[in-house]
Formats: sequence, C-alpha cells, structure tokens
Amino acid sequence: MPGHVVVVGSANVDFVMRTPFIPRKGESVNAGPFIQSFGGKGSNQALAARRAGAEVTGIFTLGDDVFSNAIMNLYREEGIDSRYVRMNPGERCGTGIILVDPQGDNLICTSLEANGRMTTEQVEAAEPAFQEASVLMLQMEVPDEANRTAVKLAKKHNVTVILNYAPARESSLPVDRDIDILIVNESEAENLTSMPVTGPEAAAVASLMLGAKGPETIVITLGSQGSVVWHDGTSRHYPPIPVEVADTTAAGDSYCGALAATLAEGMELPGAIAYATAAGSLCVGVEGALPSLPRREAIEAFLAERFS
Ligand code: RIB
Repeated sequence: MPGHVVVVGSANVDFVMRTPFIPRKGESVNAGPFIQSFGGKGSNQALAARRAGAEVTGIFTLGDDVFSNAIMNLYREEGIDSRYVRMNPGERCGTGIILVDPQGDNLICTSLEANGRMTTEQVEAAEPAFQEASVLMLQMEVPDEANRTAVKLAKKHNVTVILNYAPARESSLPVDRDIDILIVNESEAENLTSMPVTGPEAAAVASLMLGAKGPETIVITLGSQGSVVWHDGTSRHYPPIPVEVADTTAAGDSYCGALAATLAEGMELPGAIAYATAAGSLCVGVEGALPSLPRREAIEAFLAERFS
C-alpha cells in the first residue's frame, strides 16, 4: 500500500557542465557538453519519493517562465499532485548551476528566485494534504517561515517530519523535537555541531550531539563511506553499496525521497535505510539530477542483486 508524502521545498531548472576539475577562485575552465535538466532539492526528493512508490503532494513555488511550465508538465507526467504548486506571475523558477568533475563530485550554486517567495499562506492553503499524509519532507531552499508553517501543520495532523538540512545555512528553523528525523551529510553535520565529520566514528559522535537537540532519529550520510544512523540512543553504521560513480548530484535527494516513501508506507527504519542506501547508490551511477532518480523496481532489483 503506497504511503503519502508531502514535500515542501524548492524546484529548479539545473544547468550542468562536466569540467576537467572544479575551478578555484579566479580560474576559468573549458567544460564538456552542457546539459539542461530539472532539479531543486524539494522537487528531486518529491520525484524520488514518487519513483520509490509513494503518493506525493508537492508544495513548490514556480514562476511563469518556460522552465516553470516544463516543470509543471513533468509533475503531470510523473503523477505528482501539484494542486498546491504556485506559479507566480512575472517571476522565474529557481536556477541551479552545477559543475561536475571526472570523479563525479560537484559544485552547486543556486539562485532561489520564486522558491524564495514561498509564503506561510501558500503552505497553510495546503492543509488538506497534511490531513492525508504520513510523512512531511523538508529541506533548506525555501524561506524559514514556510518550513516552520509546514512543521506546525505536520504536528497538528500527526505527520512524521523529516528535515534534510541542506544546504546548511543560518536559519530560524529550530532543530528540535518537532523534527522526527534529521538528515545531514558530513559538511552539514559539521555546520550544526562545529566538529569535523570525516568518517563513521566522528559521525557517531556528531549524531549523538544532534540527537541531544531533540530529533528522534539522526541520519548522517557519508558518501562512499555509507551512513551513520542514531536512533533509540544507539548509533549504527550502514556500509555503502559500492558502485561506479558518474555524478553524485542528487544522491542525497534520492536517499531522502526513498526513505520518506518507504517510511510512509510503514516500513521499519532499518529496511527503509536499506532502500534509501540503494537509491542513493543507484543515483550516483547516472548523470544529472532528475534522470538519476531510480524507480522502485530498479531499487528492489539492485537490492536483490547485491544481497541475495
Ligand atoms: O541536490 C541537488 C540539487 O541541489 C540540484 O538539483 C540543484 O538544483 C540544487 O537544489
């Protein structure tokens, strides 16, 4: 039985270039072919959750430009409930500039554009979606007031709140017991704890510190080193599922979306982490954000292949 996930977040057009290396300050570099795709952490996570099998309601703010229209068409094709997506007249949708080096590592710069104008009132108007959902998924690419309103509605309707604290930034959104599951990568964990997080051992310490802030579960993703999950007072290291890396863009989004989808359908945390790990691994094998988000069948086939 599919679960229902509400995603409040950003939707972007992404402009991606493969570069021989990530340039330093003041440096120019000739890139390989240019790819235009769709992204935004919110939109990526919504599509990842949908492809992982959930019913998904997206709360996004677009403009009325050609890319915003294309994103709306994408939601229709993929079966995302877009009743609460706003298209602001005269505005542009968010934009991501992404450089990817030969190792698949990236540098991402985003301009929030319409995402930065998501209002409390837009989120409040979507309250009926919170009544039906079991999981809310948030990130840090929309105004704090919008995220705070979403948390309030989730608490009112007994919806599990997952916050992917990405990108880490100054924020008035508290990381406290209203956040059920906090997901961060190494640098976001460092930002929140002020301690270096370079591997599983440091992540276990950081997860304890983050757990003390109130969330019931802390997930620290560590790229090729897997993830550390702190839950019920214990932290556990989940090893990675090794794959050949083409592009790490949206690996975190793929992980978050699959985790949200599987928890929403009632899967227990360890099983959901296995699905999320597989979704993240599959994602890095494919270039771009949107094209790399795996579908449920692919996730299950991959798990069966690696663990049978
Ligand atoms: O997580 C990857 C995403 O971050 C990209 O799609 C980009 O748009 C930024 O939001």
